[in-house]
Amino acid sequence: MCGIIGYVGDADETLSVLLDGLSNLEYRGYDSAGIAVGGDGLRVEKRAGELDALQTALDGETGDAIDGPVGVAHTRWSTHGPPTDENAHPHTDETGRVAVVHNGIIENYRELRDELEAEGVAFTSETDTEVVPHLVARELRAGRAPEAAVRTATERLAGSYALAVVVAGTDALFAVRHDSPLVLGVGEGESFVASDVPAFLERTRDVIYLDDDEFVRLDATGWTVTDADGDVVDKDVRTVEWEAEQTGKSGYDHYMLKEIHEQPVSLRQCISGRVDELDGRVTVEELDDLGSPETVQFVACGTSYHAALYGAQLLRAAGVSANAYYAHEYATAPAPLSGDDLVVGITQSGETADTLSALREASGRGAETLALTNVVGSTAARESDHVLYIRAGPEIGVAATKTFSSQLVGLNLLTAYLTDGGTERRLVDELRGVASDVQAVLDESTAADVVETFVDADAFFFLGRGFDYPVALEGALKFKEITYEHAEGFAAGELKHGPLALVTADTPVFAVVTGEGEAARKTIGNVKEVEARDAPVVVVTDGVADAGRYADYVLDVPTTDERLAPLLANVQLQLVAYHMAARLGRSIDKPRNLAKSVTVE
Ligand code: G6P
Repeated sequence: MCGIIGYVGDADETLSVLLDGLSNLEYRGYDSAGIAVGGDGLRVEKRAGELDALQTALDGETGDAIDGPVGVAHTRWSTHGPPTDENAHPHTDETGRVAVVHNGIIENYRELRDELEAEGVAFTSETDTEVVPHLVARELRAGRAPEAAVRTATERLAGSYALAVVVAGTDALFAVRHDSPLVLGVGEGESFVASDVPAFLERTRDVIYLDDDEFVRLDATGWTVTDADGDVVDKDVRTVEWEAEQTGKSGYDHYMLKEIHEQPVSLRQCISGRVDELDGRVTVEELDDLGSPETVQFVACGTSYHAALYGAQLLRAAGVSANAYYAHEYATAPAPLSGDDLVVGITQSGETADTLSALREASGRGAETLALTNVVGSTAARESDHVLYIRAGPEIGVAATKTFSSQLVGLNLLTAYLTDGGTERRLVDELRGVASDVQAVLDESTAADVVETFVDADAFFFLGRGFDYPVALEGALKFKEITYEHAEGFAAGELKHGPLALVTADTPVFAVVTGEGEAARKTIGNVKEVEARDAPVVVVTDGVADAGRYADYVLDVPTTDERLAPLLANVQLQLVAYHMAARLGRSIDKPRNLAKSVTVE
């Protein structure tokens, strides 16, 4: 996810504070970076690639000369347009007087860009962000003071944003947030805004957490926070107690736990601008020229393969012929393909060698290809005919968590798009609620207590049926990846065909039972079978089928559409895996023998 830092203080230190801030934000992941330093004038430098590229540009040209009492800087994680110098932030207006850094997605940027272009404004990047400096410049031209110009411009924006803005000739910085994180740092004679505390923690531990739609002005006299009406808001200054080692993790013990907790935000980002609450439609610009494929084939590995199984079920349930294949098996036994078929590579990294070669194989055989990925400009994105980005933000823990849940939401968007032109009121409503449902699971989960009773178990089984089946597989995969304990996931119906031989009083069974009807009823039957063999049973359930009454432990999830309930159940299983691994003292973020991105076949 993009990272922002803004500074107002000692003119001689602005550049070094910004560069240190950027390197402290590196952990968030980024593909380009830039700075703007303001005062009498405005100097902007930005580069695609690592911070070194920016540093080299500064050293080579203007580094020593850049000083001024105010500045903003940014690490970019691409969402609109690939990582290039032009698309890197800060973005400026045509005169170079206004510089803006942004974290989030401006949903109505297309409409704003059309409006500005019609007025003759020339854009230099492909980003959604660039509309902001042009809007601010328009307000300045209309005679508004810089603060009023920024406020008025922000009123036009829809979507999520944390913005920091500097205007040449003004020794102040303006910042505002809406559905994207922004914190204020209060130092001695200097102040900061940033996406996250680590950006400025070396200079101050005193922070103010900003709420949505609060507006900040930083200048030599200090800071002021106002609400959307311009009224001053009293804010508490808190002192952050984290150890330096924890800072990149925002106070969490591990990146994995942080990323599990980021899911409400990442899911909101995934649907941002893609579901319309007024007319109940799904609209995904990127899919507009997709057509109506006869058959959809998914290719993927690991966690992404579990998303693929889920996606194939979603499409089949909606009447489209669809199958999921392990990417590494795809070339060995290729499924028949025609020119009307669509092959979807699901890959969070966009770089998994097996998935790339399956996509190439499909393309070579005449199919259209789509990459469902998290990484803008990745190989899968570049080589495929179409791309749907899941916008989960960078994931640092090797075990995929937030990218999986965003893949599931992405697959719902794709299915809605392919099957009914995106009109499906109930799904749209439930998709809009999924982030708060995940938050409820995170707030109320008792997974940590449940696993405490299983530390000496021999093995762990995960079962589910229908939409819950891929989640049972994923629950077991997550568990084995980070606990190093034996775990096996299977379709509940397979229990009697083998796994039941292994079930004892020392093999806890996690049964995922969501929704009502035949599938849930049958899984409850399987629960009774393992219970009869004395296995401790944990049911992960929305309670609809009353499965909890047959369990030793229940992990609840809110009731939602049957297609989204497994996503919520999976969050419980992520927590199960995490807490067990933590209890066993495993290397959670970097499990032995595993890599985040497997770039060899
Ligand atoms: C590796 C990772 C897994 C991931 C798999 C596929 O094995 O450790 O977390 O699910 O690769 O990665 P992809 O980037 O293609 O989703």
